[in-house]
Amino acid sequence: MQRYVILISGRGSNMESLLDGGLPGVCAAVISNRPDAAGLALAAARGIATVTVDHRGFASREDFDAALAAEIDRHSPDLILLAGFMRILGEAFVRRFEGRLLNIHPSLLPAFPGIGTHVRALAAGVRLHGCSVHFVTTALDGGPIVAQAAVPVQTGDDEACLAARVLAEEHTLYPRAARWFLEGRLQLLDGRARLADEALVSGSLHVPQTA
Ligand code: GRF
Repeated sequence: MQRYVILISGRGSNMESLLDGGLPGVCAAVISNRPDAAGLALAAARGIATVTVDHRGFASREDFDAALAAEIDRHSPDLILLAGFMRILGEAFVRRFEGRLLNIHPSLLPAFPGIGTHVRALAAGVRLHGCSVHFVTTALDGGPIVAQAAVPVQTGDDEACLAARVLAEEHTLYPRAARWFLEGRLQLLDGRARLADEALVSGSLHVPQTA
């Protein structure tokens, strides 16, 4: 049985979509860098082991990364899923888990890396926005893209309603990509995300049906 861990910092709705996704593997732990992350209680209520590695308790980013890596290793995961995990991970951490580290980002990368994506999308006037699942590399939100879902930006949208429209797509896209990985049909090869067959390639793009 494949094992995965989920890293969170906050509310944990993507974590819940992964846990509800019927993934072919066991969630060995949910790990947060914040003790007050609401997602921790949601995971615990499902009987999943929860752990906090509080970044504020470490003198340096490297020390935090090392403690987090050691905690992850304790659970021997095949896959590590960042789900609203709001810490930048350093090079040593990323290299240690390279090829088994996925993230969901609320924009159509490479547009709008970093935070505040919905506000920036509105300010830029883009007509399409969305979310991306990607392998994590040392480039912030810059790793090889696995799958994307697009949503239209509608007249009158504000940050909250655009975020909600994107989040609904995140909740479908991330479990799908995680499933591919756990089934051995997705891998990082030569710096690209490789999908096993054409059916997956078409499933890796979701576009809105608009008139
Ligand atoms: C999501 O939009 C995710 O893409 C971004 O932060 C948000 C986390 O939400 N990185 P949740 O904690 O999964 O509800």
